[in-house]
Amino acid sequence: MSAIVLVGSQWGDEGKGKITDFLAEKADCVVRYQGGSNAGHTVEVMNQQFKLHLIPSGILYPNTMCIVANGVAVDMGELIKELDELQSQGIDTKNLRISRRAPLVMPYHKRIDSLEDRAANIGTTKRGIGPTYADKINRIGFRIGDLLDSRDYFEPRFAAQVKQKNRIIEEIYGEPGFDYRELLDELMEQVERLRPYIADTSLLIYEAMRNRQKVLFEGAQGTLLDIDHGTYPFVTSSHPIAGGACVGAGVGPTCIDRVLGVAKAYTTRVGEGPFPTELKDAEGDMLQQRGMEFGTTTGRKRRCGWLDAVILRYAVRLNGLTDLAITKLDVLDEFPAVKICTAYKYKGTLIDEFPESIEVLEGCQPVYMELPGWQEDISHITAYDQLPPNARRYLETIYELTGVRQTLISVGPKRSQTIVQEQLFD
Ligand code: GDP
Ligand code: IMO
Ligand code: MG
Repeated sequence: MSAIVLVGSQWGDEGKGKITDFLAEKADCVVRYQGGSNAGHTVEVMNQQFKLHLIPSGILYPNTMCIVANGVAVDMGELIKELDELQSQGIDTKNLRISRRAPLVMPYHKRIDSLEDRAANIGTTKRGIGPTYADKINRIGFRIGDLLDSRDYFEPRFAAQVKQKNRIIEEIYGEPGFDYRELLDELMEQVERLRPYIADTSLLIYEAMRNRQKVLFEGAQGTLLDIDHGTYPFVTSSHPIAGGACVGAGVGPTCIDRVLGVAKAYTTRVGEGPFPTELKDAEGDMLQQRGMEFGTTTGRKRRCGWLDAVILRYAVRLNGLTDLAITKLDVLDEFPAVKICTAYKYKGTLIDEFPESIEVLEGCQPVYMELPGWQEDISHITAYDQLPPNARRYLETIYELTGVRQTLISVGPKRSQTIVQEQLFD
């Protein structure tokens, strides 16, 4: 049995798509376990760029089973768009499987997400994620499988729910509501298209594991966007952390062998919320430009700053990280000096654990360690010992600060731009 959970260690966009695609070469099964089309995972292969939102980043391998598990908020319209796009790019999608239990993102969820975020100002992706998960927890949501059951059962519940949502949209926000019959026709058309892919995915994963197949769980978002452990309320509405994989895919914790944290060599964040190492200066602009830091899903400019080891240590704790993949190291190539935040200072006191209070976090000043830059192009390097000494020193410092081995180092968006320190799937 061999199962690895891959998680984002920061605020998302760490390069999970690239690392998942890299590892998927040896995986039999890649599973998305939470989030929805708020995720944007970029994979660059054969001079083509693929932007995946709901479909696992293993889909480019024709023999890898790709599972959208029960924890994923599924927007069927977006999923069909993604399937069409992949197929038009010559990708075979026959190995996709979608959980019958997956909660459905409805058009009213997206509308309410946009309307509510005007006041809440979290800077959501407006993909309906929060309202969909809220309905799920409130037991008034719908699952994809409901559309496959008798219409007599589904239709009255759905009509009542649309009526309820229309009250919010029309009475609170003064916008036009939805016609439930129109929505229902659309949903029925969409589910027919997706029917061949719908399955009991927990069982499929269990069988894959029992047959000693290699399973990779592809996290979306990042540790600090976790609804419980992230920078609440500036978080997403699911559990991106490794523990989320068990609930979101229907597997037991004893099945997981390793947990790989993906961490950018610096830090970025999209949307609102505290960010202690954020740089609002020329160095921040340089990270943004060299890293081409624009949101994959929304196109928004990502906020940028130095690497934060307080955050990484927190990610080690919350996810039980056994391994790290450091990505985008090449983005630091031109800096004469690079910095790592080792602790925070709050009202004169040194803090080295990530604070639980958002107010404290907002008041934290980063304490930096400065290291010399390497100022040469590393994007072609394929072996660790070929890296410039100062780049190795940077990585060794990250190891000292986190205590977690770096199994992979990424120096560019392509598969070939990956330094392997140890094979994760043997
Ligand atoms: P994800 O959401 O974690 O999958 O990350 P995104 O795809 O949203 O953002 C990461 C971006 O960085 C994508 O455009 C990737 O193609 C790109 N990328 C990934 N790894 C590297 C790397 O090592 N170097 C550079 N320069 N770009 C990378
Ligand atoms: P990937 O998987 C970066 C952020 C949004 C916002 C907050 C809540 O590509 O790393 P939501 O729409 O989820 O309710 O928005 O979470 N966010 C992400 N930031 N990468 C992501 O996904 C994100 N998914 C959500 O910007 O701040
Ligand atoms: Mg992304």
